[in-house]
Amino acid sequence: MSLPLQTPPALDVEALRGDFPILSRTIHDRPLVYLDSASSSQKPNAVIDAVSRYYRESHANIHRGVYVLSEEATIAYEQAHVRVADFINADFEEMIFTKNTTEALNLVAYAWGLSNLQAGDEVVLTPLEHHSNLVPWQQVARRTGAVIRYIRLTADGCLDMEHAAETIGPRTKLVSVAQVSNVLGTVNPVDELGRMAHAHGALICVDGAQSIPHMAVDMRAMDCDFFAFSGHKMLGPTGIGGLYGRRRILEQMEPFLFGGDMISEVTLEGASWNDLPWKFEAGTPPIAQGIGLAAAVEYLQGIGMEAVQAHEHTLVRYALEQMREVRDLDIYGPEADDRGGVISFNLDSLHPHDIASILDQHGVAIRGGHHCAMPLMRTLGLNSTCRASFYVYNTTEEINVLVEAIGAARRLLRR
Ligand SMILES: Cc1ncc(COP(=O)(O)O)c(C=O)c1O
Repeated sequence: MSLPLQTPPALDVEALRGDFPILSRTIHDRPLVYLDSASSSQKPNAVIDAVSRYYRESHANIHRGVYVLSEEATIAYEQAHVRVADFINADFEEMIFTKNTTEALNLVAYAWGLSNLQAGDEVVLTPLEHHSNLVPWQQVARRTGAVIRYIRLTADGCLDMEHAAETIGPRTKLVSVAQVSNVLGTVNPVDELGRMAHAHGALICVDGAQSIPHMAVDMRAMDCDFFAFSGHKMLGPTGIGGLYGRRRILEQMEPFLFGGDMISEVTLEGASWNDLPWKFEAGTPPIAQGIGLAAAVEYLQGIGMEAVQAHEHTLVRYALEQMREVRDLDIYGPEADDRGGVISFNLDSLHPHDIASILDQHGVAIRGGHHCAMPLMRTLGLNSTCRASFYVYNTTEEINVLVEAIGAARRLLRR
């Protein structure tokens, strides 16, 4: 991850932690050390209050009623679109609310893939992908006869860009890749992959689930065609995410889901579609969740994404230094400068679930398992890993607790 030229002022993390009520909890009589934000982040009061205020004061269905509550809810939901679109530097029409990253990627696979891919066309992925950027493409390939090709990884878990240049070619119709790996933290050069795809007339789809919470993302600068993300990983509620799509492409696509609100006119014989983005938002949408996501975005903007990224870079560098001192600890993935705030590791041959359970006794929440990336596990010759992931509310003191708890797990399990 390249750091900004001017280092932003350090965050006042202690003050910021006061915004997150859950962080004052104790777990097994120890202070909670929450290191599983790559799975789902915690929520600040600003988000919790926005959701509860909406339900207490303004809830009604949107785009339907002519009474005050419905109009208030409609305005709040549409303003949420405006704020999130602005956050990623996209036009209002180009930012569709979905349930999460998984639904956004399925939208692309079904609504774009099924009607644009043919036998022999190629979809280029990487072995780093989360299952949600893999399984939908496998399904579309089965139905269309398209072929999936994979860009190789280097020994330290980065993309082999020479192999990318050989793999992306005249048959490629789409390159779909995570901007940041949820297992290794690798930051992939999506701008360069986009240029390679476009040079062959192909599209690029970016899985931004692990990037948008942690760094500034700009759809115009990235020049991608699709960008998928989840609200719950970026301080927002569950049940809300987004898909950016280039307007020209979205206009040509058929809808993914059909029903209320996504239509312009319906007759007994057929239907025509609503304007963007509503054409892709069928049925009653996640109104409260959208409003909560806008509050999360406002909160992140208040901190500044450069400050968020710099803080996490400090944490990951410190954590790598400390963890490398622990005996028998294998750490996977690139150096701190090339990774986001995610560290996967194994302790000798001990099972990650055993380690995660012992860490839980110390109040430390990490994840153990395959992280929805079984092909990557196989590529690395592993079944599973432990994963610690950091966010804006984590501290170096918490990393000390993590390292001590790993030491305790080692002593207990190696006896
Ligand atoms: C890289 C990546 N892509 C996609 C997803 C799926 O996100 P969701 O479960 O919110 O749809 C995740 C979740 O961990 C992820 O890390």
